[in-house]
Amino acid sequence: MGDKRRVDTIRVGLATVAVAVGLIVVLAAFGVDSGLAVVHPKRPPTAQDLDMKPSDFRNLQTMTRVRGFFVDNRLGHLKAALRIARSGKGGVYPVGTILQLVPQEAMVKRRKGFNSATRDWEFFFLTTNAQGTTIVTRGTQTVVNRFGGNCASCHFAAQAKFDMVCEHNHGCAPLPVGDDLIAAIQRVDPRPLTTPPTS
Ligand code: HEC
Repeated sequence: MGDKRRVDTIRVGLATVAVAVGLIVVLAAFGVDSGLAVVHPKRPPTAQDLDMKPSDFRNLQTMTRVRGFFVDNRLGHLKAALRIARSGKGGVYPVGTILQLVPQEAMVKRRKGFNSATRDWEFFFLTTNAQGTTIVTRGTQTVVNRFGGNCASCHFAAQAKFDMVCEHNHGCAPLPVGDDLIAAIQRVDPRPLTTPPTS
């Protein structure tokens, strides 16, 4: 009799342990902060990314000019982006970098792994007016500019160390527009100079 009670007690004890372990596993799987999940975090911290909305694009004059183009970064890495742009030696631009030559075109550095072929750059063809920006097309390998030229194919030609940035001498085919016309287009960016409130 005594033996049976002891066996029963052991059984109940084991069952309780099994339920407790099961609960911890389930909680950890759902990312609930059980003690176990804290000691052994299951998931890495969420990677930074910049998924642009039309209102996130701003007048070129609110960005930082580097030689002929404009640089911004919305994830706190502007200094690092400018260091690369200004160095003239190239480098991999940090996530959140926005580059523009003219108001109607932009390339934005997305999260790591977004698209390895374009080195995580997303290309945009935009229209702009006094109200702001409209995204006409966006993507990786299929976006074309107003002349029907494919952004990625041209920018692929830049030497690898320049991270798909063309400028005048990185290996890309030249644009069918002269520097003076580009400078004029840059000056007449029609968008408001004030930064829209972040929504
Ligand atoms: C015919 C080839 C060609 C096509 C097509 C093209 N680009 Fe460019 N892009 C260039 C060249 C060359 C420059 C450098 C021009 C300069 O510095 O004056 C440039 C400059 C830029 C810059 C400034 C940074 C840099 O690389 O110098 C951005 C941003 C840009 N292009 C985005 C785009 C986007 C977005 C598209 C498509 C909507 C596009 N480009 C299509 C050749 C091209």
